[in-house]
Amino acid sequence: MGEFNGDIWFVGAEMAPLVKAGGLGDVMGSLPKVLLKAGINVRVVIPYYKNIIPKNLITIKEAYPAGKVNFGEIPFEFGIKTGFAEGEIPIVLIEQNHFFNREDVYGPHSGACGYKDNLWRYAMLAHGAAYAMKILGIPLVVHTHDWSGGLVPAVIRQTFGNKKVQIETEGVLKAKLSRHINAKGLRPAVVFTVHNLGYQGVYGIDDFYDIGIDFKYNSSSAYEHFGTLNSLKGGIKLSDAVTTVSPAYANEITTPGFGFGLDGELKNLRNEGRLKGILNGIDLDYWNPKADKFISRNLNLKEERYRLKDYEDWKDFKLANKKALFSEISLPPKKDKNGRPFPLVGIVSRLTEEKGIDEFLDSLFKWNDFPFQVVILGSGKDYIEKKAAYLAELYRDRIYAQTGRYDEALSHKIYAAADIFAMPSKFEPCGLSQMIAMRYGCVILAGDTGGLHDTVSDITDRHAKEPSGVLIKHIDANAVSWGLNELYNIYINEGEKWRNIVINSANKHFGWDDSAKVYENLYYDVLKKN
Ligand code: ADP
Ligand code: GLC
Repeated sequence: MGEFNGDIWFVGAEMAPLVKAGGLGDVMGSLPKVLLKAGINVRVVIPYYKNIIPKNLITIKEAYPAGKVNFGEIPFEFGIKTGFAEGEIPIVLIEQNHFFNREDVYGPHSGACGYKDNLWRYAMLAHGAAYAMKILGIPLVVHTHDWSGGLVPAVIRQTFGNKKVQIETEGVLKAKLSRHINAKGLRPAVVFTVHNLGYQGVYGIDDFYDIGIDFKYNSSSAYEHFGTLNSLKGGIKLSDAVTTVSPAYANEITTPGFGFGLDGELKNLRNEGRLKGILNGIDLDYWNPKADKFISRNLNLKEERYRLKDYEDWKDFKLANKKALFSEISLPPKKDKNGRPFPLVGIVSRLTEEKGIDEFLDSLFKWNDFPFQVVILGSGKDYIEKKAAYLAELYRDRIYAQTGRYDEALSHKIYAAADIFAMPSKFEPCGLSQMIAMRYGCVILAGDTGGLHDTVSDITDRHAKEPSGVLIKHIDANAVSWGLNELYNIYINEGEKWRNIVINSANKHFGWDDSAKVYENLYYDVLKKN
C-alpha cells in the first residue's frame, strides 16, 4: 500500500456492453473510453456477474489472492481479477459467486423485483474495490455511482483514512505523476454521481451491523436517515464532490417534488458549490445509424450535419428498417383511409412509474380509433408489463410489446424504424434513449423534465431552436394524447415541417467530448481542494 497508482477508478454496478440494466451501464461503458482516449489512466471496477457478462467481451489477465470481509459474524472471501473490456478498457472484476453469479443484475424484471440482499451484494463491491486498490495501488480519484456505489466512500475512508490526497500541479493526471506520490495515510478523492434519486438503497438500520462498515458511519452525517440506512445519502455525504447527470435535474432535486426526501441535503450541497449537473453523452461510434450492425439498412449519407435535401435518404433508411422490423415481429404495416402509413411510435424503456408508459398506453384510448402503430420493448413493473402485453393482444394490428426482456438487438431496430420515440417520463435525470432516438432520426414525445428538458427542443415553444419533438409539462393520459395529437397533425398535414423536425433531430449529436472535459476538470478540482 505504498504509492498511488492510476488516476481514476470508476466503481459501479453495470458497464455496457458487458452488463447493462439501463443508462448507468451506458455511462460506465462510454465515459471511461473517452477519458482513456484523452490520456487519463482509467479503470472500471464492477462485480463479476459470471452468468451475465459474455466471455468474448472480456480478457482476464491476472487473478490476485483472495480478500476477506466479515458481514456480522459471517466471513466472506472474494477474488480480484484484472483484464480488459473489449480489449481496451482496463477492468477489475470482483468475484464472489454467492452474491454475483445470478440470473439478473439487480433482480428480475430490470430490478423491479430487486434481490433482497442487494445491500450486501453492493457492500461486497465496495469492499472488493478497496481491497483491489490495496493490491494494485491507490487511484487518485474514485468515481462511484448511484446507491449501489453508495458504500464505497465509507469503505475508502475506513481503509485508507480520512485525509484526502492533495495535488497542486495542473495536468498531474495525464503526467502519471501519481505513481510517485506516497500514499501513506492518504485516501483518494471521491466523486459521486447520482443517476437516479428515486433509488436510494434504503434498508433497516440494524443491517448496518452486517455490512462490514464502521459503526461511526451510522450517523445522520453519513448513512442514517430518519431511522433507516440510506446508502445514497451516505454516498453523497462522504464524497468530495457530487454530480448528477443533467443541469436541469441538478436544479430539480433540490426541490421537494423531485428530491425524494434528500432535497434538503442536496440544496445545502448546491449552495456550497459541491453539486454539479453534467449532461451525459452517448457513445456516438456505437449508436451510429451509418454503421450499426444490428439494423438491416444503414444510413448512406457521409456528412455529420444533415440538410433538408438529405431527408430522402433518411426516409429510405426509416422505410427499410420499418419493413424489416415489421416482418420480424409480424406486425402488418397499416395505412389510413387516404393510403398514408400510420406513424410508428417506438418505446424502449424500463417499465416503472417514472417512465410514464402506463399513461402513454391510456392516452391511446383518448382517440376514437388510434391512428398509430406502437412497438414497445420494456421490462419492469408487473402491472405495466401486463397492461402492455394485454393491449398488444387486443390490438394485434397496431401494438407489439416485447415485455420482461432486455434485448439489445431489438432496441437498435426500434430506434432505426420509429417515426416517433415516446419517453413521457415524470422525472428523468438525464435519459439516453431520447439521445439515441434523435441520432436515429426519430421525433421525440417526452416529459418536460431533467435531461429531456435539456436535450429536446420543443416544437410547441415558439422560441425553440431547431425543434426535435414535443415536451409535455405534467404527464397524464390527456397530456400525452395532446402531445401525440400535435405530432400526428404535423406528420399528416405539414410534410415540410415534419421533414425539418426529422433533420433537426438527426443533427443533435450528444457525444461525450464536452462533458468528459467537465469531469476531467472536476477531478483536478477535487484533488486541489481540501
Ligand atoms: P434509464 O437508465 O432510466 O433506464 P436511459 O434512457 O438513461 O434510462 O437509458 C436506458 C438505456 O437502456 C438505453 O440504452 C436503452 O436503449 C436501454 N434499454 C432500456 N430497456 C431496454 C430493454 N428492455 N432492452 C434493451 N435495451 C433497453
Ligand atoms: C439513470 C436515469 C437516466 C440516466 C441514466 C444514466 O438510470 O434514470 O435518466 O440517463 O441513469 O445516467
